[in-house]
This record gives sequence, structure tokens and C-alpha cells, in this order.
Amino acid sequence: MKFSGSHILSVEQFERADIERIFAVADSMEPYALRQKVTRVLEGAILGNMFFEPSTRTRVSFGCAFNLLGGEVRETTGFKSSAIAKGESLYDTARVLSGYSDVICMRHPQEGSVAEFAQASRVPVINGGDGANEHPSQALLDLYTIQKELRDKGRSLDGLRIAMIGDLKHGRTVHSLMRLLGLFTNLQVVLVSPEELAMPEEYVELLRGLGHRVDVSSDLANSIGHVDIVYSTRIQEERFGSKEEADLYRGRFRLNQAIYTQFCEPNTVIMHPLPRDSRSDANELDNDLNQNPNLAIFRQTDNGILVRMALFALILDVADQVDKFSRPVNWYHSRTF
Ligand code: NCD
Repeated sequence: MKFSGSHILSVEQFERADIERIFAVADSMEPYALRQKVTRVLEGAILGNMFFEPSTRTRVSFGCAFNLLGGEVRETTGFKSSAIAKGESLYDTARVLSGYSDVICMRHPQEGSVAEFAQASRVPVINGGDGANEHPSQALLDLYTIQKELRDKGRSLDGLRIAMIGDLKHGRTVHSLMRLLGLFTNLQVVLVSPEELAMPEEYVELLRGLGHRVDVSSDLANSIGHVDIVYSTRIQEERFGSKEEADLYRGRFRLNQAIYTQFCEPNTVIMHPLPRDSRSDANELDNDLNQNPNLAIFRQTDNGILVRMALFALILDVADQVDKFSRPVNWYHSRTF
């Protein structure tokens, strides 16, 4: 695809070569994320960060990624503090805000809303999550993480074995990840959820149609024994009619160190898009896994900075100039990956 000036709305836009390009640029961002160098390549550029749903990682890491490239960030969070609460349409909001920014990241509870906004926008728009539909940058950082974790173990994305666990019906991260995985070969995917929260058929059919093996299960222990990656997810409470309805499913699939030791192959990588729900009635990934070196959840969040820097650099067409505008850092730093 042509990155420069493009919206990033769905992972359907990408071919395998695009993924490789994004990952190569992400690798090249490491010295900046590690504070070994700073770059001012986006000096003067403004990111409009518009988050109409709760977010910690996605919002802050998009902002930090833009700052690390030398740009400035302006934010609005929640409906209440925006003119949408006064009845302004997405169209008008897009026309206005795209006059203020060079690129916009947006999260919104309604499926398709970010694409609608992008149609009216005068600058590129990145989908930071639209309802239960898609979350392209998360899927990219997940795939980037999987690739790095497997590389250390002498494996590649082709031939990947992965179990996805939890609320697969509403989880936009797993929807985008399923689509992206379709670009690789010879996969074995196990989908573990309560029957009512199963992965929508279109994603299952997509992978099966491409010749991959997809198994569906509601039994955690018997599904995690022969996989490279266990990808756990949160019950998406905000997509249910009531908290009580979400409570029916919360805590159904809990992974802790004892279960990991008993059922997983040694060195199975544990992932989660986060936030993990650490309340006692949920606790899908127990804190006793924190010392497990195969817990990759904070490597995922670190990798998110690299991938989001890469997206900005490609969309704003500066990927080849980042080093030209760089200098050493002045301050004390001790960051590692
Ligand atoms: C996810 C999301 O918002 O879809 N969070 C994130 O962006 N890392 C997953 C979730 O909220 O459960």
C-alpha cells in the first residue's frame, strides 16, 4: 500500500509486504524509544488525539510516539468535554479538527464511526478502536511482539500456534489479529470462549478458507497445551447490556502459574492486549505470572511505541529522514527493552 497520506482504518488494508515495511521501520525506532537519541523530524506537526472511550495505553502511547518523533499532541477525551455532547456531527467535528492537526487518532464506541470520521477529515486518521470492530495498531503491535518472541525461540510467524481466550465476540483486538494472521501460512488457532462469546463466524471462515486449522473450545486447560502463544483477553463489559450480564462470564478462564506449569509447554508466551482485569472475580491473568519470563504483556506495551512511531513516520512520509534530524540525548536514561 501507499502509506503516505493514508488513513489506517482496518488491517484489511495491509499485505504481507506492508507488515514487513512497518516492522522494519519499527525496528529502526528503537534508539529513540530507548532514549539513546532524539529526533525532531516531526517538529511543528500536531497530532489530534480524540478518545471517546476509556484508554490508557493506546492514547498515551500514540501521544508519546508522536512526541518521540518531535511532534506536539492535542487531546480530547470523553464525549462530555467535546462538542459532540452539544449535538455536533462526526462530519463537522472531523472538518474542524482536521484543520488543526496533521494526523488524527480516534477511538469511538460505535463500529464504523472512525471510517465515517475519516471520510470527512482533511488529514490521515488512525483507528484507535471502533466499538467491537477493529483495533489495527494493537494487532500490529501484537504481531510485532509475536514475531520478536518467536524469533528468540528460532520460530517464525508461518507455522504459528496460538490460543485466543476470553470475550472473542466483542474483542476488537482479536478480530484485527485474526485478519492479520490470515497473511501468514500454516497456522493453528484455538479459540477459547464461552459459547455465547464465540469469535464471529466471518473470522473463523476467513482463516479456514485460507487453509489454516481453527479449533473452537470452551475448555481452557485442554486448549493451551500445544501452542506458542496464549493470548488472553478481558470480558468487554462495556459492550454488554448490563454489568450483571458481563458478570456471568467474568473469571471463566483464569491463567495462573500453577495452571501454566501444569498445562502449557515450557516457554509458551503469554500475551494480553491489556488492561487485564485484576479484580478478584475476573483475574484472567494472575499476578503470580509477573515473575514468569514468558509473560510478554509489558514487552507488548513497549513494542506499541515502536509500531506507532513507525505508523506516523510512514503516514507522514518521514521514515527515511528520522536519523537526519537526530542528536544524542542530554539527560540521564536507563531504559532497556
Ligand atoms: C483493548 C481495547 O481497547 O480494545 N485495549 C487496548 O487498547 N490495549 C482491549 C480491552 O480494552 O480489553
